[in-house]
Amino acid sequence: MRVLVTGGAGYIGSHTVVELLLQKQEVVIIDDLSNAKEEVLRRIQTITGKTPIFYRGQVQDEALLTSIFKVHPFDAVIHFAGYKAVGESVEKPLKYFENNLLSTIVLLRVMEQFNVKKLVFSSSATVYGTPTKMPLTEADPIGGTTNPYGATKFMNELIIKDYCVAHPEMAATMLRYFNPIGAHPTGLIGEDPQGIPNNLMPFITQVAIGKRPHLNVFGNDYPTRDGTGIRDYIHVVDLALGHVASLEKMQHAAGYVVYNLGTGKGTSVLELVHAFETANQVSIPLQIQPRRSGDIAENYADCTKSNRELGWVATRTLVDACRDSWKWQSKNPSGYES
Ligand code: UFG
Repeated sequence: MRVLVTGGAGYIGSHTVVELLLQKQEVVIIDDLSNAKEEVLRRIQTITGKTPIFYRGQVQDEALLTSIFKVHPFDAVIHFAGYKAVGESVEKPLKYFENNLLSTIVLLRVMEQFNVKKLVFSSSATVYGTPTKMPLTEADPIGGTTNPYGATKFMNELIIKDYCVAHPEMAATMLRYFNPIGAHPTGLIGEDPQGIPNNLMPFITQVAIGKRPHLNVFGNDYPTRDGTGIRDYIHVVDLALGHVASLEKMQHAAGYVVYNLGTGKGTSVLELVHAFETANQVSIPLQIQPRRSGDIAENYADCTKSNRELGWVATRTLVDACRDSWKWQSKNPSGYES
């Protein structure tokens, strides 16, 4: 299969590109490098022995996208490209709506022009808003998102869903990720946040390497077993393999489908910290802080549907993820610029 991967130089995109190349698929990446480094392409080459074709630019640049589709007869597209910082999206909503929505609209238009009918969209558990029950199934209500970033994931799902109504021959799969952590086991690719990390695992690894003095734990008074927030942490390689499984499934089926990609298991902030300390024999000093605004007490997936229909299951453990995150961080103390 020839696959266009938008945002293929990013954290989840690069791990997915590796798994696609290892399965002998042809990969073309488009990425504007707004939150990624070109060095990732060399690392992908080292892991797989293959260099993906790379175009630097924005998906909503219709002239560029058209010129890429003219050269490469794609069978499918995986659409990762998008801004993803929750806090920034609250401050700059138009930046998020313009980039994250326009890219999908232009992509669908160009796919239609070139008769490409398979699309995997990088969605998020954030589309469930503030859920009232756990675990979350794909049938649970969506919407009620609490920030513009989350709204763009929700709105993109609606755009693609309505597009599929008008084009019944289309196969579109929404993958709702829970909390991706970990890195490739080689330590060659991983998450490379710019500035102060928003997410828990990169913050933990930066404390471990001595870049930050301590971890701030946002709230220990939630109604959970130890008072800290509970999330469903999934190893990024398992997540990448979920995309490969989705593409395979789409060979044989049209229509709009949605899958949760998680482990089905909730882990608290303190449990993740302790797992990291044990797996890597390092100590993570922490300070309890007030709750972070917009956070929910717990969020974890029911993955029955993706397990059954995709024949996919997350097999890597929390310890694997802690070990791989630390290997990536310690081999690359300043990310790809190390
Ligand atoms: N946390 C801390 N300290 C930190 C960072 C996080 O205690 O420095 C806590 C949070 O309060 C939360 C948990 O760790 O309880 C996980 O927080 P993350 O920021 O890593 O992840 P979120 O669940 O908040 O966010 C993730 C994705 C978003 C997505 C959201 C909802 O990063 O893109 O899930 O699905 F919108």
